[in-house]
Amino acid sequence: MPHTVLIAYGSTYGSTAELARTIGDVLRKAGLITEVRSATDVPDLGPYGAVVLGGALYAGRWQRDARRFARRHRKALARLPLWLFSSGPLDSSAAERDLPPPPSVRRLARRLGAREHTTFGGRLDQRADGRLARMIVRSGKGGDFRDFEAVSAWAERVARELRSVTAPQG
Ligand SMILES: Cc1cc2nc3c(=O)[nH]c(=O)nc-3n(C[C@H](O)[C@H](O)[C@H](O)COP(=O)(O)O)c2cc1C
Repeated sequence: MPHTVLIAYGSTYGSTAELARTIGDVLRKAGLITEVRSATDVPDLGPYGAVVLGGALYAGRWQRDARRFARRHRKALARLPLWLFSSGPLDSSAAERDLPPPPSVRRLARRLGAREHTTFGGRLDQRADGRLARMIVRSGKGGDFRDFEAVSAWAERVARELRSVTAPQG
């Protein structure tokens, strides 16, 4: 099995992409070969031995690129070791407790045989140019609720599991 770990993400305003890059950095420091890519930028899962897939949450669903990625690559994903993360809540709830995924992501995790799903806090600020996004920010409900220590701790756990999955047999 190839050893490269793919960290793919669906992100509209870039905050989930930053979480994916943080996860990639942690896995790389743990000695794994990693590639961090937008979900729109992965034509084929052939080069990869494991996948971490993350999606920003919009109206209770994963961002479109992450959904499409999961659909397009479902057969390969079902065969690969797979970890999922969502990023979204614009409050401290994700830091306070383990938030379950929305039903659509839960179904996906089950169908693809994901090893784990976790939810991280999100970020929304003036950089977001959508109409609804601007309304949320203007109403004072935006902010950056990403906890990079929690992201790194999760990634370290994934790295430990990955090392046992991708270690050469023999
Ligand atoms: C229109 C809109 C809808 C959103 N819906 C949800 C939601 O259903 N659940 C949630 O946890 N966060 C929701 N969020 C917050 C985003 O998931 C959060 O800002 C996230 O970090 C954005 O990621 P991105 O920068 O990678 O696109 C929503 C944000 C916007 C602008």
